[in-house]
Amino acid sequence: MSENRDQYNHGGMLAFIFSMVFVFVFFVYIVAIHPGVDLGENLQTPPSPEQLLADAKPVDISGIKEPWVPHEDMVKHGKKVFSQNCAMCHGNEGKGDGAAGAGLNPKPRNLVEGHWTKGGGYIGIFNVISHGIPGSSMAAYGHFKTEDRWALVQFIDSITQNKVKEDPAKVAEFAKTAQ
Ligand code: HEC
Repeated sequence: MSENRDQYNHGGMLAFIFSMVFVFVFFVYIVAIHPGVDLGENLQTPPSPEQLLADAKPVDISGIKEPWVPHEDMVKHGKKVFSQNCAMCHGNEGKGDGAAGAGLNPKPRNLVEGHWTKGGGYIGIFNVISHGIPGSSMAAYGHFKTEDRWALVQFIDSITQNKVKEDPAKVAEFAKTAQ
């Protein structure tokens, strides 16, 4: 009898130790090893206050005499003009995913992929902005100041993966007559 009881207690103690070890290992796994669910992983990091300030500050392009010549400030100014006038259709990053473009047919173009119907490059893009694409909701923006249109061209050229090689002399020649 007493032997049996000793055995029983022994078994019970072992079971207890095993379950404690299991709980401990499980605890260590959850705390230290398990990757967990990162709720933030699908969210974009919000822009820093410095970035927001830099974005809000107007870029002074008044000193730029030849707005068709690639210039960092033109790209920055173009980004602003784009976000105010084009992003609703083409999306903030030009990927063709703006809210106002969702129901359009044809859809606003993904400018990053850049399938150009008008040749692309500085000349093709300037022409599209100035004259629009008839038969689509891509309107003509010929009433925009010339330097604002060049800024848009430079911004779009900076984001597109489909850059078109052009002779800068040809662009300059075009720019002198472009309306
Ligand atoms: C109302 C929506 C809308 C707005 C606003 C808009 N676009 Fe578009 N855009 C379109 C659509 C739609 C197309 C594609 C038309 C097609 O596929 O025939 C397009 C095409 C383009 C293209 C492609 C040209 C090519 O060669 O194929 C460029 C560049 C472009 N837009 C620039 C702009 C710029 C710059 C602005 C702002 C000044 C602007 N768009 C504003 C709808 C819009």
